[in-house]
Amino acid sequence: MTHQPFFYDVTLRDGNQALKKPWNQSEKETIFSQLVDLGVQGIEIGFPASSEMDFDSCQKLAKMAPKHVVVSVLARATENDIVKAAEAVRYAHKPRIHTFIAMNPLGLEHVLKKDIQDVTQIAVKAIKRAKELLPNGQVEFSVEHFGDCRENLSDVINAIEQVVEAGADVVNLPNTVERFRPLEFVQMVQKVYERIGDKAKISVHCHNDLGMATATTVESFFHGATQLETTLNGLGERAGNTDMYQVAVALYNSGVNVPLNMHLFDKTAQMVSEMSHVPIWEKTPIIGSDVLAHRSGIHQDGSNKTKGLKKGQYIAFDPALVGRDDGEYLGFTSQSGKSALKEIYERAGYPITLKETEILMPFAKKMAEQKGELSVEDCDKLYRTHLCNVEGPYQYASFDRIQQGRYVLSYFENGQKKETIGYGYGPVEACIQGLCSLGVAISILEYQQYMLKREDKEASEAVATIKLAQGDKQVVCHAIDRSTTQVSIRAIFNGLNQLQR
Ligand code: KIV
Ligand code: ZN
Repeated sequence: MTHQPFFYDVTLRDGNQALKKPWNQSEKETIFSQLVDLGVQGIEIGFPASSEMDFDSCQKLAKMAPKHVVVSVLARATENDIVKAAEAVRYAHKPRIHTFIAMNPLGLEHVLKKDIQDVTQIAVKAIKRAKELLPNGQVEFSVEHFGDCRENLSDVINAIEQVVEAGADVVNLPNTVERFRPLEFVQMVQKVYERIGDKAKISVHCHNDLGMATATTVESFFHGATQLETTLNGLGERAGNTDMYQVAVALYNSGVNVPLNMHLFDKTAQMVSEMSHVPIWEKTPIIGSDVLAHRSGIHQDGSNKTKGLKKGQYIAFDPALVGRDDGEYLGFTSQSGKSALKEIYERAGYPITLKETEILMPFAKKMAEQKGELSVEDCDKLYRTHLCNVEGPYQYASFDRIQQGRYVLSYFENGQKKETIGYGYGPVEACIQGLCSLGVAISILEYQQYMLKREDKEASEAVATIKLAQGDKQVVCHAIDRSTTQVSIRAIFNGLNQLQR
């Protein structure tokens, strides 16, 4: 893809105007700086004619703008608004006045009570005046409610031609209220592009009333629109404006060169949510806390099998691309499968075998049916109960060192007390030797011990995982204990009981 999108952010205007508590100057400056860091090429900073406060704020932000960023202010197509806009934005290195008027049949008849020719003249006059007041700046003209201009589209396109002749550098086509199919809107954008060509930059500005603003914006880019108007976290009137992160990632996935620092998305989203008091829904694409989770067995299996590859079977983007420090996550519910359980234990720090997963599975399913997704604590409980406390004929009692290489082992076998002295370089060898001396012939094939550190527990515990053999039978067994010696002996007795099954 050769052409690049021009990201034009309207958070400080369309987003801010829809907040329950609009931002103060210092908050606006924080958002402005973040937008600059994100690398957006254009920022709409406010509506100077709306209040003295907005006017002052726009002047201050315009002065903060770096050389390469286009900074615009909104103005109705009236003398007063245009004069105020020019005054407010003139200190920016790349100033732009953004003026607009509605051209949809409903707006013409009931709101403006004018015909399209009158409205076109108003627009032309406003553009010329803006050019006059800001000779080195740009003018953007918006056909407000462009998405509602299906019945009078050819008149509107004629009007757009006149607006461009009057000097508009950018023609913005808003879907002010999203009512119809994205494709219809995109075809309308294409028609404007076919008439205007490169005489002006074509822009789209979509609202998200039906949840399709991202789709409409992304597809418009492939049909002539190069300027994409978006907001951070999709803030904006009603259901919001087009979300910047979604558009950027969708374009990136389609091979478009996205000129944004996308790795700042996650951090930005959290910051904007805090500052706007608008929480991020856990299922919000790209930035939601739950959007990397897999809970169904099929999805968990696909995710596991494609882990570490460039493209995952059930993930649309690399979380690191947008600066997320989490990754795909498996949650165990009644819908989940064996491979997920194994993976969950591995991630929680207790590697288990598939065979052990089978042992745990019925208990895990039952628990999940009752309470929903299992927590790490639930998994820990299941592990301790069903893998570290194996019931059977052997019951461990004690294991104490008498002197270097000499230990006394006590246990019960079918309720009968047994005691023996075991010899060995270490406790594990001594225990096996002691058991053998009483006719319990077992051997250790693999041995592993590691620390289990849990934030919620004061002291760390040791986990022993041992592969034991008796004749041609083999089992993997575990134990958890604070003592590194006791943990091994307990694991051996868990294994002994498993071997009797
Ligand atoms: O949604 C809209 O139509 C607008 C215009 C002022 C561009 O925000
Ligand atoms: Zn808008």
